[in-house]
Amino acid sequence: MDKLIIEGGVPLTGSIEISGSKNAALPVLFASILVTEPVCFRNVPNLHDIHTTLKLLNMLGYSCAYRERRVTVTPGDLLPEAPYDLVRTMRASVLCLGPLLARVGQARVAFPGGCAIGTRPVDQHLKGLELMGANIELKNGDILGRCRKLKGARITLDMPTVGGTENLLMAATLAEGETILENAAREPEVVDLANFLIACGAHIEGHGTNRIRIAGTSGLHGVEYAVMPDRIEAGTFLVAAGITGGELLLRCCPVDELEAVILKLRDMGMDISATPDGMLAKCAHPLRCVDVTTKPYPGFPTDMQAQIMALMCLAEGAGVVNESIFENRFMHVPELMRMGSDIKISGHTAMVRGVRHLTGAPVMASDLRASASLVLAGLAAGGTTEVSRLYHLDRGYERIEDKLTLVGARIQREKE
Ligand code: EPZ
Repeated sequence: MDKLIIEGGVPLTGSIEISGSKNAALPVLFASILVTEPVCFRNVPNLHDIHTTLKLLNMLGYSCAYRERRVTVTPGDLLPEAPYDLVRTMRASVLCLGPLLARVGQARVAFPGGCAIGTRPVDQHLKGLELMGANIELKNGDILGRCRKLKGARITLDMPTVGGTENLLMAATLAEGETILENAAREPEVVDLANFLIACGAHIEGHGTNRIRIAGTSGLHGVEYAVMPDRIEAGTFLVAAGITGGELLLRCCPVDELEAVILKLRDMGMDISATPDGMLAKCAHPLRCVDVTTKPYPGFPTDMQAQIMALMCLAEGAGVVNESIFENRFMHVPELMRMGSDIKISGHTAMVRGVRHLTGAPVMASDLRASASLVLAGLAAGGTTEVSRLYHLDRGYERIEDKLTLVGARIQREKE
């Protein structure tokens, strides 16, 4: 396994290009299962989860080629089975379930286990597919789905689940009749998926709102599609500018989709402005702690909770961070405390008191965004920080050390 060695204390200055969004690329790649012609994707980030998805699509009978952030998916004879040894490495594999049922009326997909941040159930995915006429059985750790032809249905989700909305949105595009998704997720990545499906000939309205209406169609055609930029990677680098007291220009940075994050960072005292070349972020004056509660979009994203907490560790005053989406998303806290931060956890809430400085230490990554939080803290800490178990980070950040080195960070990757 790899680790990152970071010598902190350098204000980062320069410009960084934001990559394509992992959480938009994954669902659109699975949506290519619905299409009977080759599909070409641009701006696909070079990430471990992307290659896992391409491996799964190959196992399903598609031939996939990845080259310089472009992916071509060509349909073949479908084998609708997603095995456990692959699904357990990437929970998002469950997103092949809806497309397979819509396309060939059957699927065997390993039941995705939980992960570090929570149990991650998929009951809403399964409930919606059953309402559309699928017979769903759980057997020997697999989800067995079968249907003659999915039928449009009115589905009210218990919570605005991103993956659940995406699975059911994809399934509904080829169902007979109309589907209404109530209490749907509004995330930009859901909108990007809908835009891709519309480009392939799907009839979708209301994406980006909590009520999506899909009129099923007989088939979808091939298209070339560019994936949206990654708002969470962008938010991570905005924090990097703040925590190091530097100034960063983020090129290809999504602006509207980052509104909740930008407002919170401005409340902390950061100066963030849109320029013709991209988003400019710097520390206008000493940062102060704020209160943050994670919420479904357009609220403050849970995927930025660990990162803004790292920033608060070095800000004036105290703030309360409330994680309302996942049940176990504070695993960065004990590692941040090893670096000298002052954080008290009580259930889903963490009280952060800013300290004057952090000291470098060996720390361990536990999940994707916790890893990013530890890198950010290491960039600001005095001395050397070693972040181990980098495979977590590599799932969602494209060679983060290369991008950070370009703006002055003293950071390098080593074999553990
Ligand atoms: C997506 O996960 C993202 N992953 C996550 O990003 C992100 O944190 C999450 O949405 C929330 O924004 C991808 O897009 C690949 P959910 P997903 O279904 O779809 C509960 C990252 O760091 N729930 O919206 O799995 C669930 O337990 C990753 O990039 C049910 O109870 O999230 C959770 O509490 C981490 N039943 C809440 O809903 C269900 O059937 C939100 O989950 C589905 C979800």
